[in-house]
Amino acid sequence: MKAVVIEGPGAQATLALREVPDPRPGESELLVAVRAAALNRADLRRTANHFAASDSSRPLAIAGVEMAGEVAGMGAGVQGFRIGDRVMAMAGGAYAEQTCIDHRLVIPVPESLSWQEAAATPITFVTAHDALLTAGQMKPGETVLVQGGGTGAGIAAIQIAKLKGAKTVFATAGAPEKLARLRSLGCDVALNYREDDVAAIVNRETAGKGVDLVIDIVGGSAAQVNIDALAIRGRIICVGRVAGVNATMNLDEFSRKRAHMIGVTFRTRSLEERIEAVRFFRADMLPALAARRLGPVIDSEMPLGSAAAAQERMRANQHFGKIILRV
Ligand SMILES: NC(=O)c1ccc[n+]([C@@H]2O[C@H](COP(=O)([O-])OP(=O)(O)OC[C@H]3O[C@@H](n4cnc5c(N)ncnc54)[C@H](OP(=O)(O)O)[C@@H]3O)[C@@H](O)[C@H]2O)c1
Repeated sequence: MKAVVIEGPGAQATLALREVPDPRPGESELLVAVRAAALNRADLRRTANHFAASDSSRPLAIAGVEMAGEVAGMGAGVQGFRIGDRVMAMAGGAYAEQTCIDHRLVIPVPESLSWQEAAATPITFVTAHDALLTAGQMKPGETVLVQGGGTGAGIAAIQIAKLKGAKTVFATAGAPEKLARLRSLGCDVALNYREDDVAAIVNRETAGKGVDLVIDIVGGSAAQVNIDALAIRGRIICVGRVAGVNATMNLDEFSRKRAHMIGVTFRTRSLEERIEAVRFFRADMLPALAARRLGPVIDSEMPLGSAAAAQERMRANQHFGKIILRV
């Protein structure tokens, strides 16, 4: 099959479309004929770091972590699937004509979703759902601030928060044209973090109380704003770090707010924990997704062979929504 592989040496790693051996599903895995893959910020990190941390003898790696496609085969231990079923999932080796994934980690693709929309859904929507409802314990009537509303995860978080009955959703982005797009997704108060005093406006709009929940996809410079915009006993869920992994914050104010701060990632979750996050998402969100009450924003689509250009578009922050690779 054809696949986009990360090629060394070292930190100069590049992406190239190559002929590689077909994957074979394990006992509990599905073999999926990929129709579309979607880019994620983590893909950039992986391309840059795959060889940098090691020597160039490290084995060939297929890029990508998210895709949608049709079931083309399965291991002996898989039940409940048929050849041709439409599925989407967070799955390694997604920039390829075929990949394998544990059958408990896939989400059925509703008829109403295109392949592009399906590929764009699993990571951002499961991440945002997990951050809001499992880590964040969001309740109807609460107020939410999404830091990084224009990221893939932010776009999903705004929509899920509104669907789940958030009273007011605040969200930040870095360009005026993006603020209108955040509003069109259901955001009540869209703020430009480059120009607006985000914490002051949040406090004013909540009558001095602050928000109950912050979904932080920005990190870095957003850390202090999160505390300043938070209600007493509010929760901050650290999802992403597009502005940097290091932050300075006033711990006295953090304590005064009696704030709760929780980090989330899928990188350190066991298979069982990932299965549970996907199961909860399927049970809770699939009907709304099928009815198109929420869904991903597609930025652009390119052929699989243009993966390097697609990652360059993401690196330059030229996109709004998901960049898709057509397989
Ligand atoms: N915890 C998890 O399970 C999980 C899962 C998925 C993703 N993530 C993380 O979430 C983050 C976003 O990923 P994504 O794929 O959704 O990203 P994305 O769609 O590529 O987000 C890109 C946007 O981030 C904003 N941005 C970039 N640099 C910034 C900076 N220095 N300050 C503020 N905003 C900046 C830009 O929007 P503006 O023009 O509006 O600034 C840019 O368009 C990443 O850190 C990723 O690793 C975590």
